[in-house]
Amino acid sequence: MPERTIQIVADRAALAQAAADVFVGEAVRAVAARGRFTVALAGGSTPKALYSRLAARYRDAVPWHAVEFFWGDERHVPPQHPDSNFLAAREAMLDYVPVSDQHVHRIHAELPVAAAAANDYEATLRRQFTLQAAERPVFDLALLGMGADGHTASLFPGSDALREADRLVLAPWVEQLNTYRITMSMPVLSRAAIIVFLVSGQSKAETLRDVLEGPRQPDRLPAQAVQPAGGRLLWLVDRAAASRLARVTG
Ligand code: 6PG
Repeated sequence: MPERTIQIVADRAALAQAAADVFVGEAVRAVAARGRFTVALAGGSTPKALYSRLAARYRDAVPWHAVEFFWGDERHVPPQHPDSNFLAAREAMLDYVPVSDQHVHRIHAELPVAAAAANDYEATLRRQFTLQAAERPVFDLALLGMGADGHTASLFPGSDALREADRLVLAPWVEQLNTYRITMSMPVLSRAAIIVFLVSGQSKAETLRDVLEGPRQPDRLPAQAVQPAGGRLLWLVDRAAASRLARVTG
C-alpha cells in the first residue's frame, strides 16, 4: 500500500466493513509476526459501528487474546460517563469479545487533574512498550476520526498541543469545548504502522476536501498534521464525506 491511500465506500455500513477488514487483517498479521497486536482506538460516534461489527462478526477471526487496546484520546470524565470513549468501546465491543482485562489500557480520565491522567497514561505507554527515554511507541494500528473543524483525537485547531514534540500524552484545555481532554500527541499518532481515518457524512465533506486537497494548514486543520512516520495512512471515507473531493484518488 502506498504511503497515503484514500478509499471511498458507499455508506457508514460499508465504512465499518472496510475498517473491520483492515483491523482483522492487521491483527492476524501482527500476532503471527510478533505475538501481539496493539491498537489505539478512536473516540466519537463513527467508529462505534466498526466496534460492534468486530464483536458481532469477527469473534472467531481475530486473535483477541493477543490484542492490546489503547485509546488515542479520552474525555475528562470517569469511565462510566456517557461521554467516555472507553465506555463506547466497551459497550460496543469489549464486553463481547475474549480480551483479558490486562490488555485493556484505558486512560484514567477520572483523575481530577487532567494533566495527572496524561502523565499516568504516558507512564502506561512507556511500560507497555518498554520505551527508552526519547522513544515513542509504534502502534500496529491507530484509528482516528476527524471533526467538522478538522480536529483529530483531541488535537484541536489552534491548540499549543499541536506543536508538542516530546510528550507522548497531553492534557490540553480545549477552548472550543470548554473542557480539558487527554490525548496522544501528534508524533505518537503519526508513528503507527498503519493509521486509519474513519470519516463519514456530509457534514465532514468540506473539511475533508480542505484536509486532503487544500493547502497545508495543520494549525487550522490538525488532521493534516498526521503524517506517517514510516507507516501507512489510509483514509476510509464514505461517499457523503467524499462528495466535495475534486480528485477521486485511491
Ligand atoms: C473524540 C474523538 C474525536 C472524534 C471526532 C469525530 O474523542 O470525540 O477522538 O477526534 O474522532 O470528533 O467524531 P465523530 O465520529 O463523532 O464525528
